[in-house]
Amino acid sequence: MAVHHLQRFTALISHHVRLYSARLGNWIFTSPRLKLWFYPPVKLETAAERYRRFNGSYFADLHEQERMLSDQPRMAFYHGAITRHVKPGQRVIDLGTGTGILASYASRAGAAKVYAIDHSTIIEHARELAATNGIVKVEFVEQHSMDFELDQKVDVILHEQIGDFLFDEAMVPNVCDLRDRLLKPGGTILPSQFELFCEPVTLNDDFRIPYIWELNNVHGFDYSSMERSRPQNPEYYRLASCDLQMVKHFVGDPTPLVEVDLNTIQVDTVPLEIKITREVKRAGKVDGLAVFMKAKVDDDLVLSSSPLDPGRAPHWGFRILRLDLTEVAVGDLLEVTLTVQDWTDPDTWRWICDNKSR
Ligand SMILES: C[S@@+](CC[C@H](N)C(=O)[O-])C[C@H]1O[C@@H](n2cnc3c(N)ncnc32)[C@H](O)[C@@H]1O
Repeated sequence: MAVHHLQRFTALISHHVRLYSARLGNWIFTSPRLKLWFYPPVKLETAAERYRRFNGSYFADLHEQERMLSDQPRMAFYHGAITRHVKPGQRVIDLGTGTGILASYASRAGAAKVYAIDHSTIIEHARELAATNGIVKVEFVEQHSMDFELDQKVDVILHEQIGDFLFDEAMVPNVCDLRDRLLKPGGTILPSQFELFCEPVTLNDDFRIPYIWELNNVHGFDYSSMERSRPQNPEYYRLASCDLQMVKHFVGDPTPLVEVDLNTIQVDTVPLEIKITREVKRAGKVDGLAVFMKAKVDDDLVLSSSPLDPGRAPHWGFRILRLDLTEVAVGDLLEVTLTVQDWTDPDTWRWICDNKSR
């Protein structure tokens, strides 16, 4: 067969294949059932589901456990909370038991039964540690809390599901789920009171790293044209630190951006846009917004990740949401707007800080 015949034949075949596949496609789309069969809807993973996948292996890492267990303010806070508030004879759930430490405190406080749940393989160490420490009445369950069932409700839920951004370890959905299914009416959640802060701050000069396009004179070299290449990745706009030397001062007087009471909060009731106004009390540069949390059990039992609190729990980082550098004067009014799509996912947080006095 001559080459041009072969070419014509191939073109004809491919024309018919395209024609019939287009017709087949149109036909499938006319029938909802066929459409569903051939193109099943793609289920998007929520941030909480993504976190669930990630944290099972993250917390199996012994170094993560070491960091938490050697955080003295953290351990004193939980030990104090449990010895004060878990009563002899109570039934307790320890949500995310890790190495079993909170469950062991509850057992030693006289709990009749502690269900220590963790979906990570760290729970194998927890079982062994309980045995070597003579801890009794603790049942270890390797399961995600949302899959955990009980016939009889409990008196207390213990948890440490606190992220650097407060919400990013899925504390609210996990605790609400157990509270609504398995906590007796009037039961205790330890801890249950939280505050999230988002405060305009000035950094100490040694810690100030401007955006690259703000560097217009590095010994005569100008980077301002780099503003055209502003990165799109959200983490570029957040700094993470545990260093008490980083923040020089809060620009105004801090008050919480959000208050959470785990006894009453419902999943998804935290507003997705929050505005706060700060009167400037300390003049100077505003570098960013410091994100940190406080958890309270009693007035004298508070856990803090504030960048300016010398008693802060050191293993929690605080975050600086970066801003274009501005100078402010005492008495200026700053309006901070935080908009989020999903509180569990800090990548969806967006922020603005406007000086309303200019
Ligand atoms: C921050 S660590 C705290 C560990 C321990 N409670 C402590 O205070 O040292 C959180 C632990 O909870 C587990 N975890 C997180 N969400 C969970 C869930 N929904 N169900 C079961 N385990 C969970 C993680 O695997 C991790 O071991």
